[in-house]
Amino acid sequence: MIENIVILTGAGISAESGLQTFRAADGLWEGHRVEDVATPEAYRRNPALVHQFYDARRARLAEVVPNPAHEALARLDAEWSGELLIVTQNVDDLHERAGARRLLHMHGELLSAWCQSCDDRYEWDGPMGEGAHCPRCARAGQVRPDIVWFGEMPYDMERIDAALINADLFVSIGTSGAVYPAAGFVQTARYRGARTLEINLEPSQGSVFFDERRYGPASVEVPRWVDELLAQSAQS
Ligand code: APR
Repeated sequence: MIENIVILTGAGISAESGLQTFRAADGLWEGHRVEDVATPEAYRRNPALVHQFYDARRARLAEVVPNPAHEALARLDAEWSGELLIVTQNVDDLHERAGARRLLHMHGELLSAWCQSCDDRYEWDGPMGEGAHCPRCARAGQVRPDIVWFGEMPYDMERIDAALINADLFVSIGTSGAVYPAAGFVQTARYRGARTLEINLEPSQGSVFFDERRYGPASVEVPRWVDELLAQSAQS
């Protein structure tokens, strides 16, 4: 019987809301090479470019809304009486806007800032730019996007590992399986006895590790799966 569920989501779940995925266009993110915008080195080299990139992505959030896949996961979160954890690699806020509560942002959030001087983190809306003042310590030029860049440690790994170890079901939605440690979650969960399901537009790099695979748009496949799961659990 399924009690404990871990769901990993990636850029594919937000694609139908109008947010671009990462590996769609030759590895370019909106025309930028990853190394030019999403590494600590890039930030040291050209903070203005990195801020411009994230300021634009933050502004874009106001133009998009959650789609039926986010809504279905929020419904599952509300109705599932067992343990459930949604781990998202996405830095958008569409899961929480749909109503999901049991949620971790392992790669950080566009709507959060991190002061490198006082090490505090807080909500941030609107542009950040290079010279932003920290509202806590008042220093200028030390506030950066609260985003986990390549080479940095993802957030909440202890909680995620503990949930994976206890999971009866692991579901991966809309992720290419190209970036670790998230790409390895399926193997951890499977090794510890979880059933594994992949929902994606196409087979991911780790598709062989999944017991079940459903390929199609997340807005169709995720609500269908949630309906089935809730119906099954109501019967048992
Ligand atoms: N429905 C379901 N899946 C979709 C859809 C859709 N409508 N559209 C695209 N996909 C799938 C793609 O086929 C692809 O396999 O979503 C996946 C998106 O993969 P990536 O662009 O690689 O995004 P993701 O896996 O989330 O990237 C992981 O990489 O660059 C870093 O930190 C960044 O969190 C990100 C991480």
